[in-house]
Amino acid sequence: MSKAVSTITLQKYKRDGRKIVALTAYDYSMAKILDKAGVDLILVGDSLAMVALGHRTTHAVTMDEMLHHTRAVTRGVSTAMVVADLPFMSYQVDITQAIMNAGRFVKEAQAHAVKLEGATRLNLEIIERLVGMGIPVMGHLGYTPQAIHGLGGARVQGRSAEEAVKLIDDARALEMAGCFSVVLEMVPTVVAKMVTEKLKIPTVGIGAGNVCDGQILVTDDLLGKFTDFLPRFVRRYAELSQICEDAVGRYAEDVKSTDFPNAAESFLLPKDEEELLYKLLHMEGAAGEVC
Ligand code: KIV
Repeated sequence: MSKAVSTITLQKYKRDGRKIVALTAYDYSMAKILDKAGVDLILVGDSLAMVALGHRTTHAVTMDEMLHHTRAVTRGVSTAMVVADLPFMSYQVDITQAIMNAGRFVKEAQAHAVKLEGATRLNLEIIERLVGMGIPVMGHLGYTPQAIHGLGGARVQGRSAEEAVKLIDDARALEMAGCFSVVLEMVPTVVAKMVTEKLKIPTVGIGAGNVCDGQILVTDDLLGKFTDFLPRFVRRYAELSQICEDAVGRYAEDVKSTDFPNAAESFLLPKDEEELLYKLLHMEGAAGEVC
């Protein structure tokens, strides 16, 4: 069995130039597949709201829903590090709320770390407190989906010099506050490169070029399971939605034609036992009718 991945492992990977492989998961069976395939970090992302629950944005997913799915994921993992996403309005109110919710992920769902979006003054304080009590925190900069309305849509961040400098400063502040890693989402490659070079902690990119210390994608995008839209930065490695549709179509045909289930897929009794049981059931039925 491989050794469990920790914050120390990921920081060593950065120093050694070994890229970090990260993906999202929302349930037991997918977490098991990713873990077996050697994924280093599994994020129970709040993208769950969109790809698993059908909401238009990540806002609607609740702490209880995130906990429910995080529990399922941690049950399927033996090696990867599991990071749980703090959902919208689970940490923005005050430090106490943030600590209670981050603590629930570790205590009730066995998550190894939590992730939050942005580098506000409150976030930096939250990170310091959580790290101080032994809860590792992953940062998230660039396009931060919980701020979609404030940002005016899912847009590339850090295009201007001013925005790029702010992004670099924010990344440094997250590192100083104690984050073990930072996700960089939808930022120009040149900015991601600068951040990656300036930080000692690893950057994990999504739509940030191949210059980051690792890459993350939403697994349902990579596998072609979620097909409502396809972000430009996604590479599809399978067309699961099509494969599933074909398989279900064949099942429907087999049910209608009575080809399914066949004898091997049924519980047939030996002929004599079957005949006897049939007769007995028939007599029971007849007796019932007489009564
Ligand atoms: O929620 C999520 O899946 C994420 C990743 C896209 C980084 O935050």
